[in-house]
Amino acid sequence: MKILITGGAGFIGSHVVRLFVNTYPNYTIYNLDKLTYAGNLANLKDIESKPNYKFIKGDIVDAEFINKLFSEHKFNAVIHLAAESHVDRSITNPLEFVYTNVIGTVNLLNAAKTIYKEDISAFKLFYHVSTDEVYGSLGETGMFLETTAYDPHSPYSASKASSDHFVRAYHDTYGLPALISNCSNNYGPNHFPEKLIPLCISNIKNNKPLPIYGKGENIRDWLYVIDHARAIDTIFHKAKAGSTYNIGGHNEWTNIDVIKLLCKIMDRKLNRAEGTNEKLITYVKDRAGHDLRYAIDSTKLQNDLGWKPSLQFEEGLEKTVDWYLTNEEWLNHVTSGDYQKYYEQQYVKR
Ligand code: NAD
Ligand code: TYD
Repeated sequence: MKILITGGAGFIGSHVVRLFVNTYPNYTIYNLDKLTYAGNLANLKDIESKPNYKFIKGDIVDAEFINKLFSEHKFNAVIHLAAESHVDRSITNPLEFVYTNVIGTVNLLNAAKTIYKEDISAFKLFYHVSTDEVYGSLGETGMFLETTAYDPHSPYSASKASSDHFVRAYHDTYGLPALISNCSNNYGPNHFPEKLIPLCISNIKNNKPLPIYGKGENIRDWLYVIDHARAIDTIFHKAKAGSTYNIGGHNEWTNIDVIKLLCKIMDRKLNRAEGTNEKLITYVKDRAGHDLRYAIDSTKLQNDLGWKPSLQFEEGLEKTVDWYLTNEEWLNHVTSGDYQKYYEQQYVKR
C-alpha cells in the first residue's frame, strides 16, 4: 500500500504518520505538507530516516501539482488532514480557509477520482479527517451524533463542513470510496502554542498571563491526540466506504476548569507554591461567534469497531505537561520561528 497522508507535519498528522510508519512496515507513507506556520518537521525526527517514510513539500491548493503527484505515485489510499485549523485565524482571514480546506480538498478528491477511475481495484480509500465543530454549538444538554445536522458558526467550521459535503458528494456521485471522521478537541505533544492548552502551558512556564475568552464557561470535549491517531488507524482499516464516525472521549470540561487544573499540575511540576499559577488567569474579550459547548457521542465507533480512549483527561494533561517541560527546545524553536529552518537544513541541503 502506498498511502498519502496530507498535513503530516502538523499536530495530529505527525502522530498519525508516526503510528502508521511504525506499525505498518509494509506500507509506504508519503507525507505531503506545505509547511505553513503549523507544519514542523521536527515533530517527525524520530521516524524521518525509516525506509517506509517519504516527505513531499507541496500545496494542496495547487491542482496541477496534485494531479501530477497522483499520476506519478498512484497512491492506494489518502488520509487527508492538511488544513488551516485555528478558529481565531479563520476570523481574521477566512479566505485562506476556503483555499486550503475547501479547494485543497476538492483538488485531492479530483486527483483521487482520476486514479480510482483508471484502476478501481487499486484505489482503496479517501479518508477525510474532520471536526465536531461542523455540528455547531450545543446548549446545556445533548451530544453530537453522526446524524446531527450541520450548523457551523465560524469560518473554520464552515470551511470544514463544506469539505465534508464535497467528500460525500464524490462518494455518492462518482462512487469514490471515501469516509469521514469528526473528532472533538485534541490535546497532547506537538500541539502548536496558539491553541488553548499549549498556549497556557507555555505562558505558565514563562510567567505570562493566561488569556481566557469571556467567562471561561465554554465547554470542550478533550481527547488525547494519540487516541485520535489510534481511532484513525481503526477506522482506516475497519470502516466501510461511505460511513461517518464521531470520535471523542466523553470528556467535557469548561475552559476555566481546564486552566485551573493545568495551573495546579504546573505549580507542582515547577515547584511553585499552590495557587501561584492561577494568579496568571486573565479574562479577555470573548471570541466572536464563540460556540458554547461541544460534546461528541462516539458510541457508534466504540460499538462497531471496538475503539475506546486509552487515557483519562487528568492523566493525559499530566503527560502533556511533562512532554512540554522535557521538550523545551521544541517549544523554544516554535516560539522563535527557528523550526521553519528545519526543512532547509535537513532536506534541501541533501
Ligand atoms: P495543524 O494546524 O496542527 O496542522 C495542519 C497541517 O497542514 C500543517 O502541517 C500545515 O503545514 C499543513 N497544511 C496547511 N495548509 C496546507 C496546504 N495548503 N497544503 C499542504 N499542507 C498544508 O492542524 P491539526 O490540529 O493537526 O489538525 C489536523 C486535521 O484534523 C485538520 O483537518 C483539522 O480540521 C482536524 N481536526 C483537528 C482537531 C484539533 O483539535 N486540532 C480536532 C478535530 C479535527
Ligand atoms: P482552541 O484551542 O482555539 O480550540 P477550538 O476553538 O477549536 O475549540 O480553543 C479552545 C477553547 O478555549 C475555546 O472555547 C476558545 C478558548 N480559548 C481561550 O479562552 N483563550 C485562548 O487564548 C484560546 C486560544 C482559546
